[in-house]
Amino acid sequence: MNILFATSEAAPFAKTGGLADVCSALPDSLSQLGHNVSIILPAYSQIYSAGLAIESTGKELVIPVGTKTVRGELLYSHLPDSRVTVYFVRHDDYYHRDGLYNSGGVDYPDNCERFVFFCRSVLESIRLLNLPVDLIHANDWQTGLVPAYLNILYKSKSPHKIESTLFADASEENIMSPQQLEHAHQYYDAIHTVFTIHNMRHQGRFWRWDMALTGIDWRYFTFDRMEFYNQLNLLKTGIIFSDAVTTVSPRYAQEIQTEGFGEKLQGVLRYRSDVLSGILNGIDVTHWNPETDVFLDEPYARYNTQTVFENKPKCKRALQKEFGLPELPEVPLFGIVSRFDSQKGLDLVAEIMPHFVEQYGAQLVVLGTGDHALEQRFSDLNKLFPQNISTHLTFSDAASHHVEAGCDLFFMPSRYEPCGLNQMYSHRYGTLPLVRETGGLADTVINASDETMANGTANGFSFFWGNPDDLAKATQWALYCYHHRKPEWRKMVTTAMEQDWSWNRSALRYYELYKKCLES
Ligand code: ADP
Ligand code: GLC
Repeated sequence: MNILFATSEAAPFAKTGGLADVCSALPDSLSQLGHNVSIILPAYSQIYSAGLAIESTGKELVIPVGTKTVRGELLYSHLPDSRVTVYFVRHDDYYHRDGLYNSGGVDYPDNCERFVFFCRSVLESIRLLNLPVDLIHANDWQTGLVPAYLNILYKSKSPHKIESTLFADASEENIMSPQQLEHAHQYYDAIHTVFTIHNMRHQGRFWRWDMALTGIDWRYFTFDRMEFYNQLNLLKTGIIFSDAVTTVSPRYAQEIQTEGFGEKLQGVLRYRSDVLSGILNGIDVTHWNPETDVFLDEPYARYNTQTVFENKPKCKRALQKEFGLPELPEVPLFGIVSRFDSQKGLDLVAEIMPHFVEQYGAQLVVLGTGDHALEQRFSDLNKLFPQNISTHLTFSDAASHHVEAGCDLFFMPSRYEPCGLNQMYSHRYGTLPLVRETGGLADTVINASDETMANGTANGFSFFWGNPDDLAKATQWALYCYHHRKPEWRKMVTTAMEQDWSWNRSALRYYELYKKCLES
């Protein structure tokens, strides 16, 4: 199958969160199954820091954006150690900036225009590169216009199509002539689309007049298509115009059809429930492997299920040292690696931690950046308890691996979590995740109870209600198990490490879904 991934992020080129991990590991996995897979993303300034050769395809993009004609260029590279080609849409005014979507926490005012240009370029690149494509897999709001363009402007027939006048008066060079269009239909008519929602909170909502930038007829600006409370909504657009919609865990697919999680799109999601399903993310088990991890040179140590109890304590000591905490082997060490965002529920940790420091001498290492109030809160805790809490407000791949390897427990008390990757990384490193039972966390973490510890299925700790009391109870129980249920703890560590979260199974499920789309 010929698959094109349209995404705003792909590791190692551009990353702000898990989207990047998924949009490189999944394409790679599908390619290993024998499919012909490419990725396309914007040429942010970040992409040049990956240290990989990036070259021009020699193809120029000529894209209508509102009343303007905007020119760009297509670049290409490859995913490391993979057959997957990565294309980049280059337009330096749009993408060569400090951040991907914002600067200093403020969204770029032209975000709509930036992603109009990108989405239209995705469609144009197929024609320009003569790329065989059976299916486009689009991800999150940044690519929501891709299925809309395909169905409205590029296909000769589509159930979504309202009679369009756009091409009828095509006269400028930026719009295809009728002959070109005829030819283009050959490329586009057979293409299907899957749209994956990685996060309902971020919807790409813009003021209504940005609709004019899209070049899509105003007749599509209705409540059952692109309009949302008088705004243009690009996530909703993706949900409406795709052949299939997925979320990154089965539980999240259910949750978002309810008011508590649907972010006001629950009605739209219920309307599309016949094509909505959840496929659990996998993790890149090569990059996240405690036995071969490039970041675990001395004083850290590499380990597997045989050597974990000998070598993980070395990692703990190294981590305590790196974060400037007393090197105490018996004290329970908690970790956090996260975007600082209200989604992640880290304010709950900040609230309960003083108690666990004062009563139990627990330690906590925090690695994260984002929300300024949260950054301040964890810096203050660091100052208040320098012997127990250490906060590093940076984004560091190396440190994130160190935290996973060195901690005993990993906090993820998320208010909602479409999937979450760190709990699976934690499993692989024998670090027990302590999570809120929601989304992908609920699908991957089996709470330690007398029963699950006895039958050997427990692989972490979880709690249901998102309040400090519930988190504190779960933390108390985890500490009790750490000190007083040592054999069961060790069993949980190896059970966690043996969990298979590789992409193999999920990549197959995506393939089955693609096949279903193509057959429909
Ligand atoms: P989300 O995408 O919502 O941020 P995920 O758990 O899916 O959550 O993925 C987060 C990814 O970002 C993980 O790979 C995690 O290790 C990484 N990450 C988050 N914050 C940092 C940081 N400060 N330093 C290094 N990696 C980070
Ligand atoms: C989003 C979600 C996260 C998920 C990631 C990758 O950023 O917040 O839960 O793991 O996307 O799908």
